[in-house]
Amino acid sequence: MKNTVNTLLQQKKDGNKITMLTCYDYSTAKLMEEVGVNTILVGDSLGNTMLGYEDTIQVTMEDMIHHSAAVSRGLKNTLLVCDMPFMSYQTSVYDAVVNAGRLMKEGHANMVKLEGGVEVVPQIEAIVKASIPVCAHIGLTPQSINAFGGFKVQGKTEAAARKLIEDAKAVQAAGATMVVLEAVPAKLATKITEMLDIPTIGIGAGNGCDGQVLVYQDMLGMFTDYVPKFVRQFANVGEVMKQAFTDYINAVGDGSFPKEENTYKIDDEIIDKLY
Ligand code: KIV
Ligand code: NA
Repeated sequence: MKNTVNTLLQQKKDGNKITMLTCYDYSTAKLMEEVGVNTILVGDSLGNTMLGYEDTIQVTMEDMIHHSAAVSRGLKNTLLVCDMPFMSYQTSVYDAVVNAGRLMKEGHANMVKLEGGVEVVPQIEAIVKASIPVCAHIGLTPQSINAFGGFKVQGKTEAAARKLIEDAKAVQAAGATMVVLEAVPAKLATKITEMLDIPTIGIGAGNGCDGQVLVYQDMLGMFTDYVPKFVRQFANVGEVMKQAFTDYINAVGDGSFPKEENTYKIDDEIIDKLY
């Protein structure tokens, strides 16, 4: 089944949970496509996971397009959401539309995601008018790390909770198709989910959301330096990779790799003539 803006809305209506995973490359995209994840997010988290930047502030349009296009080549039925990087939409409505268009034309995204609530309503409206579906992202918005002064759960006080509800309603009214809730108390995320007609996708927002998203290296256990509370490691792929790398080093070292079956043949006659 092909995942579209319509099937996502239908999933919310049917109480059928929406799955989303981040992905940044072709071969991983193919694996996710094969098992039927609904949506893939080419997140600007690629700055951290793929490029080793300290935060997502440094991520460029070129970074996003490069990875989004790679992922898109691995997909058939999965809906591709691509993050708009820092300063590609905050600067003006014009920039927002131009850059959303680039993520679609050059990155082959089906939907773009941007951070913010009430303050980015003009951008969401303009992008949607250009026939580009938008996923909003509220709560903990990592592009605002410097304004927040660190990563922490959002919406815990009454005033902050009210602001979050206002943001959620505003992005829906502006025409967003979907909204990510990051690091929001579970009960508040459930309330917001019940209030909205569009699906909510939670990360650190409890299971009352219409869907969930995780960064794939986090859920595979490929990064263990820092594991946020909201992550579940569904596998220990980091250990599997390290074991395989170690086995390779040892096999090369002791000459047990490559074996004859891994090599190409040449007639002995030809070899003999060479000496
Ligand atoms: O960039 C990202 O991976 C994200 C998700 C964590 C929602 O924005
Ligand atoms: Na992001």
